[in-house]
Amino acid sequence: MHKLKQKYIAGTKAVVGENAKEANTYMHWMLGKKFIVYPDVFSQKYFTDTEFFAKEIKVTQGEKFLEIGPGTGIISVFAALQGAKRVVAIDINPSAVKNTKINAKLHAVSHRVKVYQGDVYAPLERSDRFDTIFWNTPFGYIKHSNISMLERAVFDPHYKSTKKFVEEAKEHLKKNGRLLIGFSTTLGHFSILKKLLVSANFKIIKLIAETRSFETHPVKFQLYEAKL
Ligand SMILES: C[S@@+](CC[C@H](N)C(=O)[O-])C[C@H]1O[C@@H](n2cnc3c(N)ncnc32)[C@H](O)[C@@H]1O
Repeated sequence: MHKLKQKYIAGTKAVVGENAKEANTYMHWMLGKKFIVYPDVFSQKYFTDTEFFAKEIKVTQGEKFLEIGPGTGIISVFAALQGAKRVVAIDINPSAVKNTKINAKLHAVSHRVKVYQGDVYAPLERSDRFDTIFWNTPFGYIKHSNISMLERAVFDPHYKSTKKFVEEAKEHLKKNGRLLIGFSTTLGHFSILKKLLVSANFKIIKLIAETRSFETHPVKFQLYEAKL
């Protein structure tokens, strides 16, 4: 099983390599809408999970929605289009920040989508709290940390960023707020994620949706919801 995971991780690395070869900006259609994709950003041309999360995440009218790692910004834009009154999106990749801003502008939701560059929650004020916090996490667990910015979209060395995401969530969730986690048990280590959630005092951990897809290998994606 472990060997298989290693093989799949190598497959994902190869897909990131293809993504990295893009030299120009291009367009991608998703769920009937057109999005701009910058070359050095996690792309829906190569990865299928964004569409699954965009479909499965239901946003309540008027809620405050925080997305960590928006990439091209598709999920943040859909959250705003579904009626979130305020969306905040934070990505470590400066190109993803620009990409999210331009897609928010394209879909006329810039006034409700604020985008920052930074590490997980770093750009937020302590008092900033949200009804929903979502991250399509870089669920590929690896041990070496000398990786490119684009590889950071799919690999999280020692789950250091995932740990921060889970541990510090309570400081930015409203009472009864939900932490939504995009994950893959095929590529990631759910046992580590679960341990992090339990030790951060999350009491309810629910599987909301699951799908099967194919990269260079079969892969399952899950959307989990955790509440304190
Ligand atoms: C799997 S991609 C998801 C992108 C987008 N949400 C989607 O579903 O298409 C993960 C994103 O997290 C960002 N990221 C990685 N580490 C981060 C960190 N420590 N803080 C903020 N963003 C991070 C990556 O740059 C990437 O855009």
